[in-house]
Amino acid sequence: MHGPFRRMSRINQRCQSKKYASTMNPSKRDGFTSKFGVLVATLGSAVGLGNIWKFPSLTGVNGGAGFLLVYLLATLMVGLPLMMAETTLGRAARANAITTFDRLAPRQHGWKLIGWMGFLSALLIMAFYSEVAGWVYAYIFKAMSGEVLTSDPKIAGEIFGALVSNPTSSLIWQWVVLGITGSIIMLGVSKGIEAVTRKLMPVLYILLLVLCARSLTLEGAARGLTFLFSPDFSKITPTVVLTAFGLAFFKLSLGMGTMLTYGSYFREDQNIPATTTRVMLADLSVSLLAGIAIFPAVFAFGFEPAAGPSLVFMTIPAVFTAMPGGIVFMTIFFILTAIASVGAILSLLEVPVAILSERFGMGRKKASTCTILTIALIGAPAALSQGVLAETKLFGMNAFELFDFLSSNVLLPLGGILICLFVGWVYGLPELEKRLSNEGTLDNRGLIRAVFFLVRYVAPLSIAIVLLHGLKVF
Ligand code: PFF
Repeated sequence: MHGPFRRMSRINQRCQSKKYASTMNPSKRDGFTSKFGVLVATLGSAVGLGNIWKFPSLTGVNGGAGFLLVYLLATLMVGLPLMMAETTLGRAARANAITTFDRLAPRQHGWKLIGWMGFLSALLIMAFYSEVAGWVYAYIFKAMSGEVLTSDPKIAGEIFGALVSNPTSSLIWQWVVLGITGSIIMLGVSKGIEAVTRKLMPVLYILLLVLCARSLTLEGAARGLTFLFSPDFSKITPTVVLTAFGLAFFKLSLGMGTMLTYGSYFREDQNIPATTTRVMLADLSVSLLAGIAIFPAVFAFGFEPAAGPSLVFMTIPAVFTAMPGGIVFMTIFFILTAIASVGAILSLLEVPVAILSERFGMGRKKASTCTILTIALIGAPAALSQGVLAETKLFGMNAFELFDFLSSNVLLPLGGILICLFVGWVYGLPELEKRLSNEGTLDNRGLIRAVFFLVRYVAPLSIAIVLLHGLKVF
């Protein structure tokens, strides 16, 4: 055994010492209680607003099935190996995103930075993600009351503009989201996150299937499917490839300690490679179903496919207004989107809550309250950035855009590179092999070697390119 690996086995002995006994003992630390619980909670983190407004429209605009292939390649080369690496580290240390590195590399304090960056990213992402989720919550009621029934996307745009530029409604809806998800996170990992995602994920699938059935049975639906799935390889430019890599990262909640924190709640007998692969495939199925629910309807009524908020809050209401039973289906759509956001938000909240409770000795309730209040504070400028603070800019971006840029384009890729370097060059193959094979009980050596190769060389290099592109270096 040489250098880093010898160090690792010393670390493992230390982890079993008394000092760590209380949190190393799974009976004392909260965690997921069943294999299915692990699966739905982790899937809940991956599935989010990204599946509804990012994935389908990016696929349609960037070459349909061709883009899908590139996305799959990005997921297999970078996303999945990194997800396995993150969850492995978490389960090995059984700790929050910062303490994990204290335990796995006690003499190299610098690695803790990964955890701190995750803490910051979670707060920044939540600052704007909770705002968008707030708009979705508001639209459930607007859809039900028929307030957004208009087949003119321009009028739909005005209704949306009135909501987001009103400071009171923006803040209140953000607080409603924080209040609901905050009270779930307070209940803990098994009674909060696991119990809620267990109920919500099946409902999400059922609602999605209802919408797909509606959309596919409309006259002229086939054009929507062609838009989504016909491969157009001429659209695959280097920028599109980089977009696919970035999307794979955001979609699977990587690079900021979310998967690491969830991994720390995984069961010892959980087959990590199998679980993460299932999560990736199930997340992909939600994205594709969302595309099938949206685009055939968009084309059937002759609307232009849009991306981002304008797709969700302008095109969608207009499309649903045009179809029979529109109010019901529009309400279902917004309930479904709100449900999708819950699991993702819970996983974002869990990163700081675990850090505050384990490192700063706060009780779960206090840690959750502090996290929610901090997000409400830094989220306020993001909430007001579509109205009163629209012109208050830093580096040419309002608060909403700045938080999005800093987290998605800087902190997540940077965190991803550092996690890869840690696993590839410090943690090492023998430990990874031990952990991913559940101490040799799973017969998956070849797979682990491939994962190690990808994490050591391929993933950090590709993420570095995405990072530099995100920073507009080229
Ligand atoms: N995966 C989520 C989505 O696709 O909407 C977003 C996300 C959740 C990113 C959790 C990062 C994270 F830690």
